[in-house]
Amino acid sequence: MSTPLRLASREDLRAWCTHIRQSGGTVGFVPTMGALHAGHRSLARASRERGLTTLASIFVNPMQFGPNEDFDRYPRSLDTDADALEREGVAAIFAPSVEEMVSAGDRTTVSVRELTQHFCGPFRPGHFDGVSTVVARLFSLVGPCVAFFGRKDYQQVAVIRRMTTDLAMPIEVVACPTLRDEDGLAMSSRNRYLNPAARHQALSLARGLHAASEAYHAGERRADSLVFLARQEVVSCMDSVDYVALGDADSLAPLAGTVLRAPAVLAIAASLGGTRLIDNIVFGIDPSPIGKHP
Ligand code: PAF
Repeated sequence: MSTPLRLASREDLRAWCTHIRQSGGTVGFVPTMGALHAGHRSLARASRERGLTTLASIFVNPMQFGPNEDFDRYPRSLDTDADALEREGVAAIFAPSVEEMVSAGDRTTVSVRELTQHFCGPFRPGHFDGVSTVVARLFSLVGPCVAFFGRKDYQQVAVIRRMTTDLAMPIEVVACPTLRDEDGLAMSSRNRYLNPAARHQALSLARGLHAASEAYHAGERRADSLVFLARQEVVSCMDSVDYVALGDADSLAPLAGTVLRAPAVLAIAASLGGTRLIDNIVFGIDPSPIGKHP
């Protein structure tokens, strides 16, 4: 594998992507905030397996963090990330400065309605606008490509997919399965904030999803019962639970009180020791059991 080319300016990124297309290639784009784990690497692998020329971006986007969130302490490990991407055959890495991507003169925000009102929306005001604005900017620089995202951020992928459709962007969005550690914990850059005891407590999210998934596969279709099964695993272990909720897999509209028709997504967000974790399972798509559990 050869060392990925490092790009830092908008002009260089645009020129490189144009060059790949003019040479007959297709760009496979993996947008990230760095602190890469096996889940990110699987996105790069998915791109490589499709025979694409893979570009990864590493940018901790200030627009998607709230005032009391972890922007300052978000892990930054560019050189280690670059080594990992090299092993996955990534051809180029776009790692811009904040000034390159965000300027005080910016007056445009991309905002996707409705989808952003559910799940994390009320708990992270402005977060999805920050995500869709930076991803729109990246897509505009990269141009036509296949873009890979992890399904652990289910709502994020739904928002980005909607944005690309509504704005007629020449982008194919691919959602890849959530990767889990041996014990079932969904991989996340924020897992490194957890000490061993907290990590053990955090397994309650996967346990909750697992319990609901088993019930679903045994025939349970009452949304409230499935949510109850997941919630009772999580509430006793986590400091606070933002939500345990079932939504339609496309619109994310709440399914509370209904009898389920798949596909539907059961999503959880909960915090422990200042670390907010999310996880989900999609009934009708994800297999059961969802991983190994303590
Ligand atoms: O999922 C992430 O890492 C980020 O939200 C993304 C898509 C790179 C936008 O900053």
